[in-house]
Amino acid sequence: MSKVYICTAIPYVNGNPHIGHAMDYLLSDAYARFRRSMGDEVRFQVGTDEHGNKVYSTAQKNGLPVEEYAAQNSQKFQDFIQKLNISYTDVIRTTDPEHVRRCQEIWTKLSPHIYAAEYDGWYCEGCERFITQKEYDETGGVCPDHQKPYERLTEKNYYLRISDFKDEIREQIESGKMTILPEFRKQEMLHLLEDTPDISISRPKKQLSWGVPVPGDDSQVMYVWLDALSNYITILGYPDQDISEFWPATAQFVGKDILRFHAITWPAILLGLGLPLPQNLVSHGHVLSNGQKMSKSLGNVIDPMEVVDRHGLEAFRYYFSRHIDTFVDSDFTWEKYDEAYNNELANDLGNLVQRLATLCNKNEVAGISECQNELDPEYVTLMSNFEFSKAFDYIWSGVRELNKDIDQAKPWELAKNGEIAKVQSVLKELVAKLVRVAHLLEPFLPDTALRICQIFGTDGVIQRPETPLFPKS
Ligand code: MSP
Repeated sequence: MSKVYICTAIPYVNGNPHIGHAMDYLLSDAYARFRRSMGDEVRFQVGTDEHGNKVYSTAQKNGLPVEEYAAQNSQKFQDFIQKLNISYTDVIRTTDPEHVRRCQEIWTKLSPHIYAAEYDGWYCEGCERFITQKEYDETGGVCPDHQKPYERLTEKNYYLRISDFKDEIREQIESGKMTILPEFRKQEMLHLLEDTPDISISRPKKQLSWGVPVPGDDSQVMYVWLDALSNYITILGYPDQDISEFWPATAQFVGKDILRFHAITWPAILLGLGLPLPQNLVSHGHVLSNGQKMSKSLGNVIDPMEVVDRHGLEAFRYYFSRHIDTFVDSDFTWEKYDEAYNNELANDLGNLVQRLATLCNKNEVAGISECQNELDPEYVTLMSNFEFSKAFDYIWSGVRELNKDIDQAKPWELAKNGEIAKVQSVLKELVAKLVRVAHLLEPFLPDTALRICQIFGTDGVIQRPETPLFPKS
């Protein structure tokens, strides 16, 4: 049994959760459930990123004290995570006093690598990121993600001397000690590392009051990313407690837009603290809406609750784990969603369950209460390598095969010919296969897996469920 620590990016609380936010949670949840099914002990962190200008200015626009605004939205994210049936173990808010105090201790520990200097350059509030002159020139001074001109800043900042750690970070990425997935993102990060200057890690309080105060300098607060990244270890008790049981993280899940912070800034902080780097950084693509980035101005933002309400939570988990590719951008449209629900969940799987249960019932086949738990090696490899959409395709080939097996075995003809022992043994075999498929499904569709095991795992004769698993819409 291994100890596994899984981390998710903590969203800013400057708005409501949207469908994109679900990706971190669903992928981490599938991985967490998979590792538990392999007998491992899992800690699984989620939380909210509450400091910084972006949250502060939206609170002001909404006419609310920032603490209140952050608390309200943080709750919305926690409700969202619960609604998605995410099996997390730890929740953090970056406004937790414990987190704030621990961040200050982290700052003090990093002080040999910190120096003060004047920053004269660009900043994007949307990204909460300092922008290099090269990036400024390449983008014409407008953030491609937020469509807003960069701000000019001239201010005193503290810097983290990234140059102290660059060689070590490069070595760990290249050797795979810290694996970055997918491979093409790893190459991007190696290029980016070359050009990364020392990182500014504070802002003058008069520019940004909503942050963690810098120890020993009343005029400064910490740059929001330093505070946010630290959550992965403060939640484990660092630096008050020995965190070596669960640190380094087994896997950190982040969107492609914030991989740079996790592949460069975060390793620099960890090395400065003398801590090991995470074992895997898994960077997922973005969910697009009708082929475009979701934005309020385009009016194509999709409310996740509406998606859940349309065909239920399991359908939501299904679509986002299988049809949103694990590593590259993929599109969500209502047409695609309905099609996947009707053709795949309702037809392929739902009908299979109804059909097999009906046949078993007619022929008095009892359930299989002893389920074989061993997972298929091919599936284990895919899941261990974070190839979730491929693992799902693998499961689905099993579902389709079962449908074909029934058609080929034609148990109804055997029954007509009075070959009852044969019918029963054929059906038992099919049931065993379906239960195996349900085990593979469990990390993605826990409720569906459970229902299948309940229907076919009964001690008595298998009953046809009164309502189908996925009623046609
Ligand atoms: N607060 C930072 C993360 C700090 S982690 C120490 C942040 N927040 S965010 O709210 O902008 O994004 C949270 C997560 O949601 C990130 O992993 C981000 O990539 C992901 N997504 C945001 N929009 C997304 C899509 N449209 N599609 C998929 N993931 C998306 O960045």
